[in-house]
Amino acid sequence: MADQHAQSGEDKRPTEIPVIRWEEPPEGPVLVLLDQTRLPAEEVELVCTDAPVLVEAIRSLAVRGAPLLGIAGAYGVALAAARGFDVDDAADALAGARPTAVNLAVGVRRAQAAYRAELARSGDMGKAAEAALAAARKLHRDDAEASARMAERGLALLDELLPGGGHRILTHCNTGSLVSGGEGTAFAVALAAHRVGRLRRLWVDETRPLLQGARLTAYEAARSGMAYTLLTDSAAGSLFAAGEVDAVLIGADRIAADGSVANKVGSYPLAVLARYHHVPFIVVAPVTTVDPDTPDGASIEVEQRAGFEVTEVTAPQVPVTGPGGGIPVAPLGTQAYNPAFDVTPPELVTAIVTEEGVVSPVTAEALAEMCARSREV
Ligand code: MRU
Repeated sequence: MADQHAQSGEDKRPTEIPVIRWEEPPEGPVLVLLDQTRLPAEEVELVCTDAPVLVEAIRSLAVRGAPLLGIAGAYGVALAAARGFDVDDAADALAGARPTAVNLAVGVRRAQAAYRAELARSGDMGKAAEAALAAARKLHRDDAEASARMAERGLALLDELLPGGGHRILTHCNTGSLVSGGEGTAFAVALAAHRVGRLRRLWVDETRPLLQGARLTAYEAARSGMAYTLLTDSAAGSLFAAGEVDAVLIGADRIAADGSVANKVGSYPLAVLARYHHVPFIVVAPVTTVDPDTPDGASIEVEQRAGFEVTEVTAPQVPVTGPGGGIPVAPLGTQAYNPAFDVTPPELVTAIVTEEGVVSPVTAEALAEMCARSREV
């Protein structure tokens, strides 16, 4: 197959500006985000001065992807605390901004717990705000470390499952440094394979309707110098049938206690295809994505998003004409089905790779054991 987008050259920083950073200018602390709705056309910063601005940034996907949502949520609590807003109100608004990625609530509640514990200990709101910020910074650092360990473990697993090397990997949505304190989850594994010369090609699903694959993963892949090719989501079937996929690597927004995996809509069909074609389907996610309080896939709340994301093209670089702010591609008034995620049952998942280890086969017992190990560390 022709290399439509093969790139060469050294690794570059995935973006010129960091995806998230805390700053303390004289006017007061701010959280500065790389606005992901504007990529790949331009790298623009979005400055959050309080939690409601961040809540809107989360809802609009200016900041997105499970691990980064956790980090952003924790910084959001720190921001509310540092600016003297009601921390509990801010925490509730942030945790509820999007329902599926459990990391968001985990990050928010960790920073909130640090704030409350320090307030109870010292009675000093300034010190409590510092404790919330320290918790956010720790989550940020931990995620970077988790990323590196997932990449290492994921690469070892790929080499074990595909001893021939020359991996052709299919991925969906965006799971690189745009969603993480480090190099990401599934994308970090592909990047590790690329660096040691064992990635033959990254197949990038465009990921309708918001094009996280085309806009963001292709952007990161191009800047890393790896060989990659973009495809429409519906072309995946014929790619499998042509024998061009050696493994599927995806991230996760929530992994239920039974091993069911919620991820960007379109992941489940890939799992079904992978099973039919005897291709490993591998999920890469930090332990914070595993939610022991969600018993099974049916209990995962799947975010439903506005229909105009389907009935209009809403890329930032197209002129505004439709009611949703984009170019209509369906008759006005068309109803749309637009779940942001789908759920893959554990029996279709070959392995779940976390920073703590690889779970395969995926069972509730093996997942619980791995989570317990991670709590002991
Ligand atoms: O709606 P998004 O863009 O936040 O969805 C992101 C995904 O589905 C990612 O695949 C998932 O968060 C895993 S990122 C490591």
